[in-house]
Amino acid sequence: AGSVSDFKVADLSLAAFGRKEIELAEHEMPGLMALRREFGPAQPLKGKKIAGSLHMTVQTAVLIETLTALGADVRWVSCNIFSTQDHAAAAAVVGPHGTIENPQGVSVYAWKGETLPEYWWCTEQMLTWPDGSGPDSIVDDGGDATLLIHMGTEFEAAGAVPSTDENDSEEYGVILDLLRRSVAEQPGKYTRMGQGIIGVTEETTTGVHRLYEFEKNNTLLFPAINVNDSVTKSKFDNKYGCRHSLIDGINRGTDVMIAGKLAVVCGYGDVGKGCVESLRGQGARVVVTEIDPICALQAAMDGLEVVTLEDVVGKGDIFVTTTGNKDIIMAEHMAAMKHQAIVGNIGHFDNEIDMAGLAKVPGITKTEVKPQVHEWRFPDGKKIIVLSEGRLLNLGNATGHPSFVMSASFSNQTIAQIEIHKNPQAYIVDGKPTVTTLPKHLDEKVARLHLDAVGAKLTTLSKEQAEYIGVDVAGPYKSDHYRY
Ligand code: NAI
Repeated sequence: AGSVSDFKVADLSLAAFGRKEIELAEHEMPGLMALRREFGPAQPLKGKKIAGSLHMTVQTAVLIETLTALGADVRWVSCNIFSTQDHAAAAAVVGPHGTIENPQGVSVYAWKGETLPEYWWCTEQMLTWPDGSGPDSIVDDGGDATLLIHMGTEFEAAGAVPSTDENDSEEYGVILDLLRRSVAEQPGKYTRMGQGIIGVTEETTTGVHRLYEFEKNNTLLFPAINVNDSVTKSKFDNKYGCRHSLIDGINRGTDVMIAGKLAVVCGYGDVGKGCVESLRGQGARVVVTEIDPICALQAAMDGLEVVTLEDVVGKGDIFVTTTGNKDIIMAEHMAAMKHQAIVGNIGHFDNEIDMAGLAKVPGITKTEVKPQVHEWRFPDGKKIIVLSEGRLLNLGNATGHPSFVMSASFSNQTIAQIEIHKNPQAYIVDGKPTVTTLPKHLDEKVARLHLDAVGAKLTTLSKEQAEYIGVDVAGPYKSDHYRY
């Protein structure tokens, strides 16, 4: 590997600590290590420029080094302003064989506590190779890299970048400013970039939702593999990952005793289910809000009271949003909460909690207890605690999901990247780029790669049994519509 010519991280001297944690993580990421052994010799990603926008954590460093072990030329950013682990970012730049003086890893633009303009600047740097070219493929989490390319292409076609009005978010204004500069200084940059991309592999529910919208509106510029809906991703990372990292974030942020508290979880999807278990495991009394009758009934059958936020807003001690939707906890709700109620979000974006509305409450003041923990004092003296300014608290206040579950998610990412480079044409149907999930045999493969580590011994079907239930001895074992 050559020297890394460009990067921006908090402190490169943290690389040695980062490397130690990466080595610990590698042992807990058997799927990724197995894929390195299986595909390393054939180099299926040789020379492919892969741009990643996904929380720059220790686990992500193991993903990055798996992609480079398969031959890829990688650049990376975090997909959230608070989620970078600075030692992991430093170690990813230095690489396993480089030194601080001569870093030989990959170009990373990420540090914990970016401003929004810095965040989008980093994203643009990540998408721009030193020779000015763009990526061959993208690893996205939440779809911000994909969004920037789509917005840039749209405005370049229109010949102008619109201006914002008072209803637009601050972030939207930041993106428009960046694109306005780009359209003026490098006309056609994003159009060319979009045309050069073979595909994107998307990590999370929210990003996948954006992709299906593009597909529906016939504006999707390149094919996408929906990694989130691999069973070995959303039924594991979203659930068991959040079961681990939700209370980690609450504990590191507040160290409050969770036992006995009334916790309100908004949303009972995959993330909500993990969060409820997390809080119940600590002895909290947990109630749930839902809009979907199926998930509401599931919650009730799991022994949870299903309520509306209005019913419990004055009684809850801890509020967690998990919906991937917007406007869940509004300023009026927070005004009606108990003194020292804790409010946090674990969904992808910060619009689940009305932070803008909270800041506009007349007479309200905000005090930093420590980074990513703020006390908001209402004029009557009542205070509430908001974690990570409404952004995903498991990555803002703690270190996100543990390595083992991320190994399953990132094995899907790696397989999806190999697949999209191997068969790019398969994902364009009737001239249109599509959004697809990985075939079930690959999903089963990812699970298989993690069984030994948990001491699981699989039973093998006999030929007669396989015929009786209508499957192959080697799988897949379930139909595509099976729900697990
Ligand atoms: P999901 O679709 O399985 O669950 C969301 C649930 O929220 C659904 O059951 C839906 O009916 C419900 N919901 C929607 N609007 C609601 C409302 N107004 N009130 C109450 N409930 C409402 O999605 P999933 O996979 O659980 O993901 C949720 C969010 O978490 C997404 O933004 C996803 O990207 C993000 N995510 C975050 C992770 C993290 O580490 N912080 C990990 C995985 C996903």
